[in-house]
Amino acid sequence: MSLTYSNYLKLDQILSQQQVKSDPPEHDETLFIIIHQVYELWFKLLLHEFDKIARNFADNDLFEVMATFKRTRTVMKTLVGQLDILETMTPMSFSSFRDRLAAASGFQSAQFREFEFLLGYKRAERLADQEPGSPQYQAVERRLHEPSVVDRFYEFLAHRGATIPEELGSRDRKLPTTPHPAIQEAILHLYRSEPQVAILFELMTDFDEGQQEWRYRHVKMVERTIGNKPGTGGSSGVAFLKQSLFKAVFPDLWAIRHRL
Ligand code: HEM
Repeated sequence: MSLTYSNYLKLDQILSQQQVKSDPPEHDETLFIIIHQVYELWFKLLLHEFDKIARNFADNDLFEVMATFKRTRTVMKTLVGQLDILETMTPMSFSSFRDRLAAASGFQSAQFREFEFLLGYKRAERLADQEPGSPQYQAVERRLHEPSVVDRFYEFLAHRGATIPEELGSRDRKLPTTPHPAIQEAILHLYRSEPQVAILFELMTDFDEGQQEWRYRHVKMVERTIGNKPGTGGSSGVAFLKQSLFKAVFPDLWAIRHRL
């Protein structure tokens, strides 16, 4: 068979996967499915790009890492923008098929959890949302033990002359990123001495602001759609989601801004 647009993109498979659970079908359930599927595709791309960023940091490849941060911050803006579409669905419309979702929830998104762990927001207890033994469980578990992008960022700083404190170099990889004064001093020094690295720091800050914006927009969308009802995934819902608001991926980049 010759290569065509359709078979290259495997459209037969992709476009046959939007199957609503409501019966008779609720109009908005199609939007609900498509938007989540699209997010999962973007999550797949983000994992792909951040794996590259981790390698580029370790290799001290400044221009590659800059180019890829530019891409990821733009994807982040797209992720935020797409929430506008879902907000055209009213709470009444969502209620009409919500009970069909049973315990299914974004909570169980393995790729999102991989993404959080890869970025250094490690919450080992969230592994429990995955089915033990499944490939998804294994993927999230692998990310939990792997160095995060922030660990690779420390390597990049070392390439650029920074001394990385022993407690960061040998830290338990399963724990989340914590800010550190020595990293902040190294960042400040580079902001002042290496203008190209300063551009990278700004791109990283753009991405970081973008991912925080996504959390904020998601929680507001959840609040306007289900109020204070608990989540289908079993959490308290809005109250749970609020705990991650303003969590920075690169806290040291934020800690020094008043000194710039
Ligand atoms: C009407 C639309 C939506 C509602 C009402 C909603 C609701 C919720 C709630 C209540 C939670 C907390 C966990 C739970 O107990 O279920 C949650 C988590 C989550 N949702 Fe949504 N959500 C919606 C749309 C989306 C979309 C479009 C995405 C994109 C993939 C998404 C991704 C996530 C993720 C990744 C989490 C886990 C967040 C974390 O653990 O910090 N949600 N959602």
